[in-house]
Amino acid sequence: MQQQLIIFDTTMRDGEQSPGAAMSRDDKVRIAKQLEKLRVDVIEAGFAASSPGDFEAIRAVAAVVKDSTVCSLARANDNDVTRAGEAIRGANAGRVHVFIATSPIHMKAKLRMEPEAVLEAAVRTVKLARNYTDDVEFSAEDAVRSDVDFLCRIFEAAIKAGARTINVPDTVGYSVPELWGALFTQLMTRVPNAGQAIWSTHCHDDLGMAVANSLAAVMAGARQVECTINGLGERAGNASLEEIVMAVRTRSDVFTCATRVDATQIVAASKLVSTITGYPVQPNKAVVGANAFAHESGIHQDGVLKHRETYEIMRAEDVGWNANRLTLGKLSGRSAFRNKLLELGIPVASDEALNAAFARFKALADKKREIFDDDLQALFSDEAATPATEHYKLVSLVAHSETGEKPYARIVISDDGRERSAEARGDGPVDAAFQAIESLASSGSELLLYSVNNITTGSDAQGEVTVRLTKDGRIVNGMGSDTDIVVASAKAYLNALNKMAVKSVRVNPQYGTEAAALP
Ligand code: KIV
Ligand code: ZN
Repeated sequence: MQQQLIIFDTTMRDGEQSPGAAMSRDDKVRIAKQLEKLRVDVIEAGFAASSPGDFEAIRAVAAVVKDSTVCSLARANDNDVTRAGEAIRGANAGRVHVFIATSPIHMKAKLRMEPEAVLEAAVRTVKLARNYTDDVEFSAEDAVRSDVDFLCRIFEAAIKAGARTINVPDTVGYSVPELWGALFTQLMTRVPNAGQAIWSTHCHDDLGMAVANSLAAVMAGARQVECTINGLGERAGNASLEEIVMAVRTRSDVFTCATRVDATQIVAASKLVSTITGYPVQPNKAVVGANAFAHESGIHQDGVLKHRETYEIMRAEDVGWNANRLTLGKLSGRSAFRNKLLELGIPVASDEALNAAFARFKALADKKREIFDDDLQALFSDEAATPATEHYKLVSLVAHSETGEKPYARIVISDDGRERSAEARGDGPVDAAFQAIESLASSGSELLLYSVNNITTGSDAQGEVTVRLTKDGRIVNGMGSDTDIVVASAKAYLNALNKMAVKSVRVNPQYGTEAAALP
């Protein structure tokens, strides 16, 4: 019998700490439902004390998720633990995840606490968390740079206080696989009550080794991996869920454990998270990148045609890549459209929603002869990326560029229902469109990132544009898609402005100003 490897997804907590990846309550509920379909064991839905909005989001996730444990992060102080405990109260299975930093640099410079006070806070708050749930996890932040003797003491005390999961984070992505595996062996041997807890690994990707380090910990006996969809997360990100799951599954000859994940839901989860957060997936990303199963060289193509396993160690369909079939055309009717949505797992809430979606499909079919599955997904992704209160909407756009002329754009937008127009010239038609929008919105935002991906192939393919804006230290990502790249760009810019308009004050649990003051 293989042991179970617990998959702890922190896309909605650590992933949300990526610049501009803030998620609304509805976003979190949508992602949580997909994570449940993916059969992850634990969903860390947020950090309840960070804002009333995040508290509500965790409560909403706890109310809808039935098959996965719903978890909230908490710093080792009474207020955080109480908020986390209250947020998960409605869950079928709820967990409180208490953490405190244990490395000399964090204890001295950030917490300004002596090691004994850190140990005391850990024990006190783990006990407090047990008042809300039996399922309490304890993490020693920056374990990678902590003194091993101190780690052994604090982990032993946390287990004694009631922690069932002990998480060892490489907070700064500093370790290497051999050392990380050896640390687990040492901890699990030296902590006297180690057998009463599940050992967990949480790795960051600053040196590109988050997945390798996590797998080394698993080899050494860790039975929970903390990871995120698409490897999203603080700075360079966390260990990527899809890579961990597929590595353990594909190399079942070397791993003595298995996950319960339904891998066929991986690509859908990846696309949803990318759309909601505005973080595109790089084409050469393992498992979920557009090229992950594409064979370019003639020799490889020939090999795969003769015998697939010559160059493929996984099957695309096993992780949820469909063949991106030609789906519908201009003449397809409403019932074919509805059936296709059902087949793709796209939820349609009501007849009105179906009618609106059908109208958008027809508009796309007028511009694009062949509609593929991915086109339909993009049509609905656009909707998923739209905040509930939409301040600005694109009404129309004219863009003109000609050799030797400065490109021009004229835009009409709806500004809280009132139509306004502007024109501008720029370094290209996209720049001209952005300048025209800015002349209307006067947001004063700075453009940090602009990227375009094609959704399907061919010159009439839809382009998916990501725009990252910043203002007064806040960062937001906007997305838009269309067969016309300038239109997709304008949609993405307006989407980012709409997100900027949604008020959000959150405390980053690890760097926030409050984090420095509170234990
Ligand atoms: O990286 C880290 O140390 C964390 C902890 C809060 C678990 O995210
Ligand atoms: Zn982390």
